[in-house]
Amino acid sequence: MNVHTFAQRKQQHQKISMVTCYDHWSAQILNTTEIDCLLVGDSLAVVMYGYESTVHATVDMMTLHVGAVARGAPDKFIVADMPFLTCSKGLGVAMDTVERLMQAGAHAVKIEGDSHQVDIIHHIVEAGVPVMGHLGLTPQSIHHLGGHRVQGKDEVNAAKIVESARRLEAAGCFSLVLECVPTVLGGCVSQALKIPTIGIGAGPQTDGQVLVLQDLLGVNPKFKPKFLRQYASGHSVVGDAVNQFHGDVVAGEFPTLAESYR
Ligand code: KIV
Repeated sequence: MNVHTFAQRKQQHQKISMVTCYDHWSAQILNTTEIDCLLVGDSLAVVMYGYESTVHATVDMMTLHVGAVARGAPDKFIVADMPFLTCSKGLGVAMDTVERLMQAGAHAVKIEGDSHQVDIIHHIVEAGVPVMGHLGLTPQSIHHLGGHRVQGKDEVNAAKIVESARRLEAAGCFSLVLECVPTVLGGCVSQALKIPTIGIGAGPQTDGQVLVLQDLLGVNPKFKPKFLRQYASGHSVVGDAVNQFHGDVVAGEFPTLAESYR
């Protein structure tokens, strides 16, 4: 996958699949799958570090995780999130962050919002770095948005999202994540753009779909937003395996002589 195949997929009406990936061992597994694209999302602050929001992801954190993923998934197209405020502190900070993420192994960066990002996005694209946009529910602005709410529900806000999407396309984004918007709006934005949209909670009409890996694996059984489909019972798979190991140790059944050195 590369930026050109993203565009081709849209032209040929072939959907794009993306999952988040934060670490080396899951990257090694994902490298053997048919998934199109990996996202080292700043959601790692929540999923991997237990913070309340993505605001806590730092450039150092993101860079370490991008490196771990890139070494584990050399065959995959890797997108890295630009962390909180890195595009709001001026071009210097933005470009330093882009440099670190790309040198760590990313092939593109993802940037939330469009308000003061458009010029910076244009500059990054002109510098030869592909940019994925992100509109709708933008978790870095969670405090401004007042929580995890579906965005663009009324006509005025829906029109603003379509307008923002057009601005991001004009600035040079090669694709756009649409998070938590009504199905009709997901379809509308996808039709309005030449670049592919990748939805999460944006309905079936977007040009691709993304989920957080741990969510689709069912690692946290209590996290069940409407848009999520759990493809495995990760919580019980891991819990059961560890309990079996514990039981074998306590019963003196692990290790056997065959599992020991002479
Ligand atoms: O950080 C992330 O995981 C994301 C996805 C939800 C799109 O931005």
